[in-house]
Amino acid sequence: MSKNVILIGFMGCGKTSVGIRLSYQMRRAFLDTDKLIERRAGMTISEIFEKDGEAYFRKLETETLKGLLTEEGDRVISTGGGLPTREENRALLKKLGTVVYLKLSAQTVYERLRGDTQRPLLQCDDPLGKIQELMAAREAMYTAAADVTVDVDGRSFEAIIKEIEEKTA
Ligand code: S3P
Repeated sequence: MSKNVILIGFMGCGKTSVGIRLSYQMRRAFLDTDKLIERRAGMTISEIFEKDGEAYFRKLETETLKGLLTEEGDRVISTGGGLPTREENRALLKKLGTVVYLKLSAQTVYERLRGDTQRPLLQCDDPLGKIQELMAAREAMYTAAADVTVDVDGRSFEAIIKEIEEKTA
């Protein structure tokens, strides 16, 4: 049985920054699905969206999960914010390990990602509106994919990591 801990949640919820610290604390390897995709494609996420479109990127996410399932391990894995939107991916996540949903408010996402140019979905005239719309559409999917939910709004890394460790032990 795999003991991976997988972090899911909306853009800006801290999957990577929490994941790196958590992996250090748990003495585990850290992987990030976006980074694996970028390395394999030889392109940034923005370039993949621009050249091949979102649907193609979603296929790469599924392939990446399938690849991870073939590997042994007890790692900490952070994921792209839209990865759990595919039903197939939610099933793959469950097989891969314990899924932790890092939950935060749309306003916090907006404040954290204001001025960000790396997230193609938020390069629009009304990023807050887009965040609210996507979050409303995704909330039930994150909850369905998750074994554990951790609120991250206004909390320190230490508090978040402690709760994840307790809830996944
Ligand atoms: C996306 C989130 C991004 C990245 C891509 C699409 C999304 O990852 O996978 O831009 O659909 O929410 P982060 O959640 O790490 O920003």
